[in-house]
Amino acid sequence: MKVIVDTPEGIAKQAAAIYKEILADKPNAVLGFATGSTPLDLYAELIRLYEAGEISFKDVTTFNLDEYVGLEPTHDQSYRYFMDTNLFNHIDLDPANTHVPSGLDTSDEALAAYDAAIEAAGGEDLHILGIGVNGHIAFNKPGDPIDTMTHVVELTQNTREVNARFFDSIDDVPTHAVTMGIKSIMHARKIILIALGEAKADAIKAAVEGPVDPACPASVLQLHPDVTFFCDEGAASKLSL
Ligand code: GLP
Repeated sequence: MKVIVDTPEGIAKQAAAIYKEILADKPNAVLGFATGSTPLDLYAELIRLYEAGEISFKDVTTFNLDEYVGLEPTHDQSYRYFMDTNLFNHIDLDPANTHVPSGLDTSDEALAAYDAAIEAAGGEDLHILGIGVNGHIAFNKPGDPIDTMTHVVELTQNTREVNARFFDSIDDVPTHAVTMGIKSIMHARKIILIALGEAKADAIKAAVEGPVDPACPASVLQLHPDVTFFCDEGAASKLSL
């Protein structure tokens, strides 16, 4: 595991450079994306590189981590809408090659089909992750089993409260989500996790320096052969680097 500390702008540039390198090597790469405020600077940088003619997503296939159960893809808080408006609509990606778990069809068949589609695409070359203040990745919460593939989870009160800022009230925050499991995420050949701000410092310390323990889902990434944590000073502030 590599840990790189930089400013949020520097992190967006360094992470975007990794995409550029992968796409130069493999124009039809399979990329895993995440939602949340953390990757927004990176997505803006990817759009900038695309507009500058430095990268193309023409032959890329994408898979997103998670989606709220019950939200239509057009709902402005759905993760499909988030990806369309913050990245996909601004680059030359074929919409048919973008995948976000369905929040409407959460049947066992649909969940299994999501992992099967990743496998059929050849597996992910790169997955980007954020991290929750309690160490969750995607919607895999502390204490969840770590050998899971795509599945439905009940959101914790804490996660619903943290995400309530995007909804009119906490009552509007969905109670469940579909999430790629830790095992599905660990299948990616390369993983980048970005953490910004002091609120993430405890989660980063547990993930990087703590034991591999389901109590901090992100700590499982220590077992991955190619993972880079990009942290700003706040997020890295509790590390004994
Ligand atoms: C949500 C998402 C995660 C994301 C986390 C942190 O729970 N499911 O994928 O990493 O929020 O969000 P933010 O980047 O806004 O701090």
